[in-house]
Amino acid sequence: MAANLINEQLQSKEDEEAVPEEIWKYVFGFTPMAVVKCAIELGIPDILENHEMPVTLAELASELRCSPSSLHRIMRFLIQYKIFQEKAVSETSVGYAQTPLSRLLTKHGQRSMADFVLLESSPVMLAPWHKLSARVLGNEESAFGAAHGGDVWGFAAGNPGHSKLIDNAMACDARLAVKAVTNGCPEVFEGVTTVVDVGGGDGTALRLIVEACPWIKGINFDLPHVVSVAPTSTGVEHVGGNMFDHVPKADAAYLMKVLHDWGDEECIEILRKCREAIPHDTGKVIIVEAIVGQENHEFKDVVLMLDMVMMAHTTKGKERTLKEWSYVLHEAGFNRYTTKHIKSYHSVIEVYP
Ligand SMILES: C[S@@+](CC[C@H](N)C(=O)[O-])C[C@H]1O[C@@H](n2cnc3c(N)ncnc32)[C@H](O)[C@@H]1O
Repeated sequence: MAANLINEQLQSKEDEEAVPEEIWKYVFGFTPMAVVKCAIELGIPDILENHEMPVTLAELASELRCSPSSLHRIMRFLIQYKIFQEKAVSETSVGYAQTPLSRLLTKHGQRSMADFVLLESSPVMLAPWHKLSARVLGNEESAFGAAHGGDVWGFAAGNPGHSKLIDNAMACDARLAVKAVTNGCPEVFEGVTTVVDVGGGDGTALRLIVEACPWIKGINFDLPHVVSVAPTSTGVEHVGGNMFDHVPKADAAYLMKVLHDWGDEECIEILRKCREAIPHDTGKVIIVEAIVGQENHEFKDVVLMLDMVMMAHTTKGKERTLKEWSYVLHEAGFNRYTTKHIKSYHSVIEVYP
């Protein structure tokens, strides 16, 4: 046997035996989420944001009243993950500073995603992930139900603290998504004078739509326990109710990240109620949701993660391909729709009766 053939065989045996680094991502996959949650809870992004200069370990430990040793390890990890960065304070010392990522983790920033991290890393939302295989095997109606009984919306109705966590998390995402919609396709709201946001949460999305398009009068429609604690805002009326019973009338119904919480049958019911709520000749439904399977989409991986989140947290919810969207829209009696790409993991689907 030629020497280079033997070498090649030895090399391929070694390659087979080597453990790819990739595997550790799955063994310790929870770590980045947990450590980022820890940093948010400690308020580290806020502390760094409030200092003009980089903050040394001693200063940070003193502000947090904790021992520098654990803090150093947390910060070393987060620097490696490019959440924070180190910058020179003087010729001999360095301090911690924000990065574009950590600016998304301050508690009250306009683009903050901190509440979304806190929701997804909460014990309530983590428990159903342990029931995913039972859900796939059909042993459980839903992973969330197996963990907590009932569905996430019923759970939220009975647990105001968790409901607030959901509303705050949804508001984070809404701030980014609505900006992407109003910047990416402002024509969607042209000629529309009233909009009902169906499942609009605490009304953040509609408030931002009305701010961007002040000619619009908004109706924020959600479950009574959600709207009863929603903040008031100019141009937005909160209405409590059940979208499976009726949807308040408006020129356009706006549905953002609502239909993905439900199976096809429920989606068709919700869409039929929206169809009844809008004018038959000039009305439209504006859906802001992910579309699975869009080649070269920059958020393709996020969409697939979100589909898994739907499997863990909802009973029959899922992210849909364009073919699956076509099916539910057609079954709900809609004849025509267009899709628009925006700078987000969502797309805009405009649907006409
Ligand atoms: C994933 S959240 C989306 C919130 C908001 N659209 C956004 O994107 O920020 C789904 C919303 O649907 C609401 N919802 C669930 N069941 C509902 C029902 N039967 N009638 C009205 N709203 C409902 C929930 O309370 C929640 O606010």
